Amino acid sequence: MTARQLKLGAVLIGVGTTPDAWRHPDLPGDASIDIDWYRAKARLAEDAKFDFVFIVDSTYITPDSAPHFLNRLEPLTLLSALAGGTSRIGLVGTLTTSYSEPFTVARQFASLDLISHGRAGWNVVTTGLEGAAENYSRSEHYDHGERYRRAHEHLQVVRGLWDSYEDDAFPRDRANGVFLDRSRLHSLDHQGEFFSVAGPLNISRSAQGQPVIFQAGGSDAGRDLAARTADAIFTIAESFEDARAFRDDIRRRAAAAGRDPDSILVFPGIVPIIGATDAEADAEYRRRAEAVDIAQALVQLGRPFGYHDFTRYALDAPFPELGDAGANAYRSHSDLIKRVARDERLTLRETALRFATPRSAFIGAPATVADEAERWFREGAADGFIVGVGQARDLDDFAARVVPLLQARGLFRREYEDTTLRGNLGLAVPVNRHTAARRAAAEASAAATPAALAASATARAPGEVSA
Ligand SMILES: Cc1cc2nc3c(=O)[nH]c(=O)nc-3n(C[C@H](O)[C@H](O)[C@H](O)COP(=O)(O)O)c2cc1C
Repeated sequence: MTARQLKLGAVLIGVGTTPDAWRHPDLPGDASIDIDWYRAKARLAEDAKFDFVFIVDSTYITPDSAPHFLNRLEPLTLLSALAGGTSRIGLVGTLTTSYSEPFTVARQFASLDLISHGRAGWNVVTTGLEGAAENYSRSEHYDHGERYRRAHEHLQVVRGLWDSYEDDAFPRDRANGVFLDRSRLHSLDHQGEFFSVAGPLNISRSAQGQPVIFQAGGSDAGRDLAARTADAIFTIAESFEDARAFRDDIRRRAAAAGRDPDSILVFPGIVPIIGATDAEADAEYRRRAEAVDIAQALVQLGRPFGYHDFTRYALDAPFPELGDAGANAYRSHSDLIKRVARDERLTLRETALRFATPRSAFIGAPATVADEAERWFREGAADGFIVGVGQARDLDDFAARVVPLLQARGLFRREYEDTTLRGNLGLAVPVNRHTAARRAAAEASAAATPAALAASATARAPGEVSA
């Protein structure tokens, strides 16, 4: 058996989600809408044997939104284009269950999965931005609990639709004129709280069975959704201890839901800064932190709270008391900001600057960053990392300088193990539910025939009794 290895995903985020990253001379000013830029980065990540690239998404902006949010490509369209220029790397995109119909989502991801020969992944989110409601013909955002109930049901419907065709549904027998084996096509007939979907879906499964399900919620409801249904979960980790506690919690919840905890992978998000030495990387971090404009940092701080207006508070007074602001937005993220500000007695200014450029544990010389990644992986804080980008060349640096160290330590692959995302992540291909049910029924009926009963009686050893 091969040793457990860590997994890596790369966030491709064009001109960036910090106010200033777009000004870097190495980055095209239109990177977020430039397919050639995405292709080059996806190939770079594939050459470094990353498991997947990841495209974040949301559906509401204001003129103050970060540069990448203001003007970007839609993930499914973008990933379908990237499928053509790559052959092994996984293609993961965000799509919200709050403002989409499961039938459409199932079709879109199934299409990406076939186009990419089994490399698709869906990051299931519920949308934290209340303004999105008005872009989808609603006057109010769903509340947090309802969003997650809808997400559970949405995902259940999508997965049901993905199993519409069993894997041998299309004999395509030219000689006898049989295109479809009708017994291998199944409708869904779902009726639930939010959706009523008859099915079947008009597209078959890929080599990986179903797209890989990622999830990124951190609240109680978010963790629950992931533990019950996801193959992998992203998390914001403030520290090694936080990441380990989060992973332990997800594994506990998965076990309580009857799952093998090893069947769900936890990916803390990291934004590494690599220097020739620790001091050089640290200086680069401080340069970035000092360049932050406080007005922009306040806007950025407001986003997890649903673009809360922080300009109305005194900058150098203690972080304001916000009641339950943020609870219906990006709940776990806004809770984290409140908790850190309270625990560390930060002012509003300190809080805004702290979250504009978080001081991560992954800042240092290549060996320092590799040591930290190894520690998190070996000591139960991570199954892999989702590598974010602060500035233009951060991903290039990580790929060129840290990945070879992880490979030399036997922690990361030198070659892809498989052609599918599931295969590379070490996840099992889900057997089509109808195939599984038919097999189980066939086994049960074989066991119940008189011949089988006689065979099992004669196979019994002398003295053995049936229970
Ligand atoms: C690495 C990472 C990536 C995320 N990507 C997205 C995204 O693309 N779109 C989105 O709306 N939320 C994204 N989120 C936020 C989560 O989906 C979630 O909305 C947030 O953590 C609040 O969830 P909660 O209400 O369960 O706490 C991401 C979170 C993390 C940690």
